[in-house]
Order: sequence, then C-alpha cells, then structure tokens
Amino acid sequence: MEIAGAVALVTGANRGLGRRFAAALLERGAAKVYAAARNPESIDLPGVVPLRLDVTDPASIRDAAAVTSDVTLLVNNAGSSTGASLLGGSLEDIRLEMDTHYFGTLAVTREFAPVLERNGGGAVLNVLSVLSWFTAPQVAAYSAAKSAAWSLTNALRLELAPQKTQVTALHVGYMDTDMAKHVEGPKVDPAVVAGLALDGVEEGRFEVLADDASRNVRAGLAGDLSGLYPALVS
Ligand SMILES: NC(=O)c1ccc[n+]([C@@H]2O[C@H](COP(=O)([O-])OP(=O)(O)OC[C@H]3O[C@@H](n4cnc5c(N)ncnc54)[C@H](OP(=O)(O)O)[C@@H]3O)[C@@H](O)[C@H]2O)c1
Repeated sequence: MEIAGAVALVTGANRGLGRRFAAALLERGAAKVYAAARNPESIDLPGVVPLRLDVTDPASIRDAAAVTSDVTLLVNNAGSSTGASLLGGSLEDIRLEMDTHYFGTLAVTREFAPVLERNGGGAVLNVLSVLSWFTAPQVAAYSAAKSAAWSLTNALRLELAPQKTQVTALHVGYMDTDMAKHVEGPKVDPAVVAGLALDGVEEGRFEVLADDASRNVRAGLAGDLSGLYPALVS
C-alpha cells in the first residue's frame, strides 16, 4: 500500500517508536496521522491529530474508532514491558503484558477491521519483537505476550485477506527508547526501524526483520533449540 495519501492511526504515538512512526508517516505524505495515546496531552508532534486510546480499555477503543472512520493504515505499536518472569513475577504484571500486546492488539484490530474494509482494505502493521521467538527469565512475560501477538498476526493476516487488508509484522531487537533504557550495548535507532517497517508496508511484505538480532534468531528457529539456548546444554 502507498503511504502517501493514507490515513494512519498509530497507538502509543506519544513517545518512542510510535512517535517515530507518526513522524515518518507525515514525512512520507500520509494525508492524516492520528497519534493515539493514553494521554493525548502528551502528544507534541506538530501535524498529527491527537487521539485518546488505551488499548486495554474497550470503551476508549470504541470511542476512538467512532471519530476515525477514514483510517486506512493501523499501526499497533503500543507496548508494555514489566520485566516479569513467569515464576517470580506478579500475575498482575504477567496479565498486563498479555492485556497490552495480545488482547490490546486484538481488540484494536477487531474494532478497526470494518473501518479498513469500508475504506478499501488498507493495511495493519503489528509491532512485534525478536522476543516473539526467543525468551529469557527477565523478559519471560513480555516474550510470551509477543509470541501470542505473533500468532495473532499470522491468523489475522489470513482472516483479513478476503477484505484485502494486508498485515505486516515488524520484528526487532533492542531499540533506543524508554523501554530499553536499562539495556547496555547496541540498540537500533527507532527512526530507522520505523522507516524499514513502513518500507515493508509499502512493499506489501508479510514480515520485516529490522536488525541482525531478529534475522539471526529467526534463522535459529530452524535448528535445534540448543543453538538458541546454549545454557541448556552446557
Ligand atoms: N524498545 C525496544 O527495545 C523494543 C524492541 C522490540 C519491540 N519493541 C516494541 O516496540 C513498541 C514500542 O515500544 P517503545 O520501544 O517505543 O517503548 P516506550 O518508549 O516504552 O513506549 C511505549 C508506548 O506504548 C504506550 N502504551 C503502553 N501501554 C499502553 C496502553 N495500554 N494503551 C495505549 N498505549 C500504551 C506508551 O504510552 P504511555 O506514555 O502512556 O506509557 C508509550 O507510548 C512496543 O510494542 C514494544 O513492545 C520495543
């Protein structure tokens, strides 16, 4: 799909990758960019239309959809990161990850699927992670939720195909945003990632692997799991 002339809605657009998406969409000539956030007063990007949307709140999703009937590109970007492990973390945190990444993405997409259909099909871009395919105790709840969101993305691609809505998944390792501010070591620039993901949408790609971490882990899935988790056999 062409970004120029598209009407996009980005969740979690007030900071991090979502803000870079909103800026890149404007740069590529989107006709309108709805910058959705839990707190729309925190939107500081000129040129966008601020919108209140909490992906875990069905009423707020319905209210947002009611005033955005022209959307042709939905970017499911909003994300949480509690750092909860599955045995030591609180169930509240573990549920929050599922509520945000899985049920949130699902609820927003269900609400906007008819909107996209009425507007000719359009596209959905789901922000996933290298952690859809790899896990560790300190990111276990997040990874499980991103794995669920990966499966959801593949299923929705099939379910939305008849209405000509294309679905692109973005996988990426650590990016230089608030979410990864505790991480030392190399992080990719979220502006670069937003650009690669939008290239993928424009090319109609099923998947965008935005960095080496994603490409290596994706390739590693084809081998024995000891390749991805050497500690299990050492
Ligand atoms: N950073 C990384 O290393 C990395 C790597 C791979 C994938 N990702 C994914 O990239 C996406 C963007 O993350 P980021 O790196 O930009 O993180 P970030 O800087 O922490 O931003 C997260 C965004 O999600 C919003 N959000 C959280 N819960 C929400 C909810 N219930 N409803 C609506 N918005 C909500 C936040 O809004 P508030 O300001 O209101 O909190 C914020 O705008 C996420 O899906 C994340 O999982 C990140």
